Amino acid sequence: MKSVLFATKSLEQLTREASSESSGLKRVLGPWHLVFLGVGAIVGAGIFVITGHAAAQYAGPAVTLSFVLAGLTCAFAGLCYAEFASLIPIAGSAYTYAYSTLGELIAWIIGWDLILEYSLGATTVAIGWSGYVVSFLKGIGVSFPAALAEAPYSFNPQTGAWTKTGALFNLPAALVIALITYVLVRGIRESATVNSIIVVLKIGIILVFIGAGLFFLKPDLWKPFIPPNQGQFGFFGLSGILRGAGVMFFAYLGFDAVSTAAQEAKNPKRDMPIGILGSLFACTAIYIAFSLVLTGVVSYTELNVAAPVAVAIDAMRLFWLSPLVKIAAIVGLMSVMMVQLMGQPRIFFTMAKDGLLPAAAARVHPRHGTPHVTTVATGLAVGVAASLLPIGIVGELVSIGTLFAFVIVCGGVLVLRYTRPDIPRPFRTPLVPFVPVLGILSCLYLMSGLPRDTWLRLVAWMGLGLVIYFTYGIRHSKLRRRP
Ligand code: ALA
Repeated sequence: MKSVLFATKSLEQLTREASSESSGLKRVLGPWHLVFLGVGAIVGAGIFVITGHAAAQYAGPAVTLSFVLAGLTCAFAGLCYAEFASLIPIAGSAYTYAYSTLGELIAWIIGWDLILEYSLGATTVAIGWSGYVVSFLKGIGVSFPAALAEAPYSFNPQTGAWTKTGALFNLPAALVIALITYVLVRGIRESATVNSIIVVLKIGIILVFIGAGLFFLKPDLWKPFIPPNQGQFGFFGLSGILRGAGVMFFAYLGFDAVSTAAQEAKNPKRDMPIGILGSLFACTAIYIAFSLVLTGVVSYTELNVAAPVAVAIDAMRLFWLSPLVKIAAIVGLMSVMMVQLMGQPRIFFTMAKDGLLPAAAARVHPRHGTPHVTTVATGLAVGVAASLLPIGIVGELVSIGTLFAFVIVCGGVLVLRYTRPDIPRPFRTPLVPFVPVLGILSCLYLMSGLPRDTWLRLVAWMGLGLVIYFTYGIRHSKLRRRP
C-alpha cells in the first residue's frame, strides 16, 4: 500500500504524455496568448472591489505595500510554477507536479484541493459578477427581478449566521457560467481570442483611470502613508499591511492557471515561464499604480464600499469614466471566470487519464479538440453552486485552497532538485533553496491569518477527497496497474 501511495510518475513517462498527439489537445497558443490568459485570470474582483476594503479597514494608503508583499509571495510561487511548467508541460499543473515528486496520494490531495481554487473561485467571481450587473442595470433604469438575483440564503462569515433572502436563485450567475462554458467547449483558440479582447478592454480602462487620476492626486491624502496601528493586530500599522497582504492575495489568483494550458502551448518549454511570470509582473505593476491613485484621489476612509473605484471617479468629477469602469469590471470578471473554468476541466482531464477519475472525463471533443466532458460537468456544477450559494461561504476557501497548492508546488521544486538534479531544466527557479523555502513560509504565513472556520472547511473538504481516493482512485490508478 505504502509503495502505491507514494509512487511517483517518472519524468520520462510525463514527457511522453506531454506530446499533444497522445492528448488530443491542440497546440495553438503562443507567448502573448499565455500572458493574456494570465492577465485575464488575475485582474478582477480583487482590484475592482477588495482593494477598497483592504485600504479602509486594514492598511490605509499602505495597501500598496500589501500589494507588494502579496505580489512577492506569488513571485516565489510563480518562479517555482515556471520551473515545473517548462519541465513537465502537462495540463494537470500542480497535480502533475506533485505526482512526479511527492507521489500519488499527495497528487490526488492537491488535485482535489485545486477544485477549491478553480471551481469555487469561478463560483465566487460569478456571484460577484451578478451583483455588479444587477447594480449596473439599476443605474441605467432597468430593474432586475430581486427573486432571481440572489441565492436563497445569505451567510455572514463573522457571526456564522444564515439569513433567508427571499430570493429563489441567482439567475445572472448561472447564465454567465453557461455562456462561458459554451465558449470553452467551442475551442481553446476561440476562448483565448475572447479572453484577449476582454483583457485589452479592461486593462485599457484601468490605464485610463490611472492616467486620469495622476491629474487629481492630492499627496496629502497619503500622509501618513502607514496610518498608526489602532491597538489591535491587523488594524493599520505594520500588522495592517500584513493582513492587507493576506486579503489582497485574492487579487493575484489566476497566474498559475496559465500552467493548465501547457499542452495547448506551441512551445511550452519557453513560453510557460513567459506566460506565468510575465502576467504576474504586469499585474503587480498595474496594482501598485492603481492603488496609489485610488488612495491619492480619495481618502482611504471612504473606500469601504462595493464599488470603491466609483467613489474615486466621483471625487475626480469624471462622470463619463464611471460607466466605463463598471463595464470593465463586468467584462473583466468574465475573463477571470473563463480562465478558471478552463483550468478546472484540464486538471480533471489529466486525473482521468491517470485513472483517478472515470475514463469518460478524459474524452476530447473530436472536432473542437477540447476536453468537453469535463468542461460541461464543471460548468454544470459551478452554475448550480453559483446560483444557490452565498458569497460569504465561498470566498476565503478559495484563498486557502490556492495557498495550499502553492506550498506543494514550492516543496515539489525542492524535492525534484535533490532527487533528479541531472535533468535539464528549460527554466530554473533562481536561488534554490531560498526561493522555494520563502515561498512555502510566506504562503503558510498568509494561510495562518485565515479564520478557523475556513481551516475546518478545508479539512472537511480534504477528508471527503480522501474517502473518494480510497474507494475509487486507488483501485483504478493506472500507475498501480502498470507493470
Ligand atoms: N484574481 C482574481 C480576481 O481578483 C481571482 O478576481
